[in-house]
Amino acid sequence: MENVKLAVVYYSSTGTNYKMAEWAKAAGEAAGAEVRLVKAPELAPEAAIASNPAWKAHYDATQDVQEATSDDLEWADAIIFSVATRFGGMASQMKQFLDMQGGLWAKGALVNKVVSAMSSAQNDHGGQEASILSLYTSLMHWGAIIAAPGYSDPVLFTTGGNPYGTSVTVDEDGNMSRDVKPAVEHQARRTIDIAARVKAGN
Ligand SMILES: Cc1cc2nc3c(=O)[nH]c(=O)nc-3n(C[C@H](O)[C@H](O)[C@H](O)COP(=O)(O)O)c2cc1C
Repeated sequence: MENVKLAVVYYSSTGTNYKMAEWAKAAGEAAGAEVRLVKAPELAPEAAIASNPAWKAHYDATQDVQEATSDDLEWADAIIFSVATRFGGMASQMKQFLDMQGGLWAKGALVNKVVSAMSSAQNDHGGQEASILSLYTSLMHWGAIIAAPGYSDPVLFTTGGNPYGTSVTVDEDGNMSRDVKPAVEHQARRTIDIAARVKAGN
């Protein structure tokens, strides 16, 4: 798996998806992949960010994280997305980033990228699965290969059991309802493993 290049692309207002993205990055590196951790560019006005102290704190604390670019996607063999839920779908910051990839799509540069996605929401059934599926809809248009976790490891049964991708419920103070780190790590390893197989198949 040493040759696999993994891009972890996230959008987070208050840090949950950043944390999940960092876990995926660490697991990817431990598996021997070369990893880029990048964020979807923020689109909200400064006033909106400043109105929520947790958002403002996270925004300021992650200024040094590189913003995701088309080059990151073209470079990667595997891409893991982690995105906060907004009204039952992916946050618009991530959708905007996806929508900026028409150039890559047109030249077929996203075909056969091995992808998977993760999400969080404030309620147990607040739309985590729908957010992940909304991402997968766009990624299918790319011709990407979705490496959903399914129930490919026993860890799925103790981390919420979302076969579409790791998801978690998080309260307003940023407390996760359960420890999903093992699920994130499994998802990262699985995504890289499938990417390695696709690469070897070339
Ligand atoms: C505009 C907006 C819409 C949201 N919509 C939902 C929702 O549909 N369901 C839900 O459970 N939580 C919802 N939330 C809560 C976020 O999903 C939650 O704050 C987020 O998952 C935390 O992730 P982060 O720390 O990475 O930003 C919403 C939050 C905002 C600001």
